[in-house]
Amino acid sequence: MGSSDFSRKVKQNVSSNFDQSLTIYQDFEDKYHFFAEFTAKMAEWIGIRPGASILDLGCGNGISSRVLCEGFGCRVLGIDLSPKMVEAGQRMLSDLEDVRLMVGDAEFPGELAGEERFDYALYNASIFVFPDANQALREAAKCLKEGGEIAFSFYPAILGPNDEDLMDEAFRRSGFTPPKFRVITTYEAACGALEEHKGPVGHYRWVQPLDVGFLKDFFSIPAQSASLFPGLDYEERRERVRRLFDSIADLAEKGSVVWRMARA
Ligand SMILES: C[S@@+](CC[C@H](N)C(=O)[O-])C[C@H]1O[C@@H](n2cnc3c(N)ncnc32)[C@H](O)[C@@H]1O
Repeated sequence: MGSSDFSRKVKQNVSSNFDQSLTIYQDFEDKYHFFAEFTAKMAEWIGIRPGASILDLGCGNGISSRVLCEGFGCRVLGIDLSPKMVEAGQRMLSDLEDVRLMVGDAEFPGELAGEERFDYALYNASIFVFPDANQALREAAKCLKEGGEIAFSFYPAILGPNDEDLMDEAFRRSGFTPPKFRVITTYEAACGALEEHKGPVGHYRWVQPLDVGFLKDFFSIPAQSASLFPGLDYEERRERVRRLFDSIADLAEKGSVVWRMARA
């Protein structure tokens, strides 16, 4: 498959997986307030200024955009591939004048942003499914004002006390075949691209205790379960997610979930 075929296929899958995720995604958020907290951690870490203008790339149904607007006093343009996530976000955020959400490919933010220039381009839990992070970050950098910054938060690393990968251990114990790749773009590749387009990269790790119930719920979001068990129907994926994380329940007290972030 050529790289443009691969890219098209990934984006079609992302769009349809997130279209199908809307209800469960929002139920998960209502229960844990996770994506809102993740956004706030990134915004606090990079010290976002009130009144700043932000591109929220992979905005989903606007959870991150709402936090940036209501919690940090920013103006936000959110872009997402999933029409259903965006429509829901437009409804839920219709009272916020400073938030605009649009359907589009955030690898090319300039197509929707036009001549507008922003203080920040942020990716909350989205860059790892972009097929060409280098292109995405190059295009995002073009949409920034002089001195503007880019930051992203990443897919979880589930680690044991010596930083060993407990997801690998869970696949070993449960006997399921691990996916060829859990993410489309690795943290290292995204950081390399960020450095190329914006200069030296800073890193931050938000560490949470390993909570098997949380992980089962997180990976039961249809789009997240597809990252572990691609090609299976949703009910089968959800059942496998349950068994996968039950297999490491005895390691919960020793493990942690690490959410990495990068900025430049
Ligand atoms: C885990 S959700 C995060 C949503 C939101 N940022 C939040 O904090 O709730 C990831 C989102 O990235 C979007 N996405 C992935 N690749 C994209 C692309 N190339 N262009 C636009 N959106 C993309 C998906 O459709 C999905 O809604």
